[in-house]
Amino acid sequence: MPHVERFSISMNRELLKTFDELTARKGYPNRSEAIRDLVRNALVEERWADANEKVAATVTIVYDHHTRELADRLADIQHHHGSLVVAATHIHLDNDNCLEVVILRGLSGRVRQLAELLIAQKGVKHGRAVYTTEGRDLW
Ligand code: NI
Repeated sequence: MPHVERFSISMNRELLKTFDELTARKGYPNRSEAIRDLVRNALVEERWADANEKVAATVTIVYDHHTRELADRLADIQHHHGSLVVAATHIHLDNDNCLEVVILRGLSGRVRQLAELLIAQKGVKHGRAVYTTEGRDLW
């Protein structure tokens, strides 16, 4: 457990009021936890700016499995990037639509490229990647 330091922050009243409303709306127990999350988000984002950081990501895609060859194409892409794909889960939303979550891990540049490639496939109705961290050096 890292040593906890206390410090004070100066902020204009209006900004603080808005921040407190945000903190409450998001369910944070206090300002400190909300600020810690903001700092962590900034650090993770910074890490992703470097293409050679070890990172993790999830890619969520929704698609119609009747779209010609799309399911095969998505599987092919994952096979060709086997070293980056940790796991994939597929559920059938209804008669037509599938939801797939692909978990990726590797160097940020390659992970981002693969995430973008999956989302960009013709027939994917919606795709979103969450670029996160392996958690080391982040407290
Ligand atoms: Ni399906």
